[in-house]
Amino acid sequence: MKNIILSAYSKKAFHLKNRLVMAPMTRSRAINNIPNNLMAEYYGQRTGAGLIITEGTAPAPEALGYPRIPGIFSQPQIDGWKKVTDAVHAGNSKIFLQLMHTGRIGHDDNLPDGVHLVGASAIKAAGQIHTDTKGLQDHSQPTALTTQGVKDMINQYVIAAQNAIAAGFDGVELHAANGYLPEQFLNPNVNTRTDEYGGSIQARAKLILELAEKVADSIGNDKVGIRFSPYSNLGDLQPYAPAEIHETYLYLAKELDKMGITYIHISINPQAVKQTLDEMRASFTGTFILCNGHTPETALTALVNGSADLVAFGRSFLANPDLAERIAGNEPLNQPDFTTLYTPGAKGYTDYPTLKLTAVS
Ligand SMILES: Cc1cc2nc3c(=O)[nH]c(=O)nc-3n(C[C@H](O)[C@H](O)[C@H](O)COP(=O)(O)O)c2cc1C
Repeated sequence: MKNIILSAYSKKAFHLKNRLVMAPMTRSRAINNIPNNLMAEYYGQRTGAGLIITEGTAPAPEALGYPRIPGIFSQPQIDGWKKVTDAVHAGNSKIFLQLMHTGRIGHDDNLPDGVHLVGASAIKAAGQIHTDTKGLQDHSQPTALTTQGVKDMINQYVIAAQNAIAAGFDGVELHAANGYLPEQFLNPNVNTRTDEYGGSIQARAKLILELAEKVADSIGNDKVGIRFSPYSNLGDLQPYAPAEIHETYLYLAKELDKMGITYIHISINPQAVKQTLDEMRASFTGTFILCNGHTPETALTALVNGSADLVAFGRSFLANPDLAERIAGNEPLNQPDFTTLYTPGAKGYTDYPTLKLTAVS
């Protein structure tokens, strides 16, 4: 019998050839922030996935916190991404572009000249980040976005989403996880704003809901997904009251359900409370994707017990372009090479062996 991970999926307007998702992964191969042929080859190798979610991609110059990450705010970037979407569609897979605004996570040296780091508030993140100019550096001090600045940034996302559709993407994923700008707005330790985007749970969630609503109005709610990481402290996000976190994410799930966006994608972490995830799942009638730490066996369990509609794999997809075939044949998986995760070039990127190649050589 066919493994359910590899069986076709359909819910509302979302149809995929299987339930296997490639998780978004920054790989820092986009020289000058422009997607290229090497990236098209990498994504094209991984079309065993029913859905590919791209690496985090900047909707605006201020969002380019890491070196060599791609953007989607210029014509060369749209043209570059077109090569990727063509390669993925040739493999009969769907592809969503992850829109990632790094906010206070970043360094001014990684940004174009004259552009500076922004945040929900002017609170610098502890920790360091790689720069190509000076190696590891402390995060730069962010400037707090003004209220008008927030509205302009939402507009940048809308244009970026339109650009994504022009580049041939099937939709966009709003990255509201892992400590980047949208999640920086949710967290009261990092968002100390006194305008309409700070204060109560609803006010702190307002940015995310406006982003989702305006992007959905512009490109269609069936083309919008969102990623959350409830209870995560990535990006130096200090924990806040668990009851408040629970209420925040339930509120978001219910409001996003009213908007009818296509999916919620959860990046689970060890602190995550199961009840929150279960209640989010129950409150959201669209597609629910779970990621983090899955093996083919645990992914199957999540699908069978109904905690997820789709399962996403990060590192296993990175190291196994033919992950679908390996799951089908119950074959062992290659392990990722951690020294080449973010280095430029093909090594550790497009040269992971497939079963076919291994059998021949
Ligand atoms: C090299 C690398 C880059 C990543 N970049 C992103 C990213 O750009 N956006 C994102 O939402 N998550 C990113 N992640 C997190 C993955 O999407 C995923 O949540 C994580 O790898 C855990 O899943 P896994 O256990 O299947 O690898 C990244 C992970 C890795 C290993």
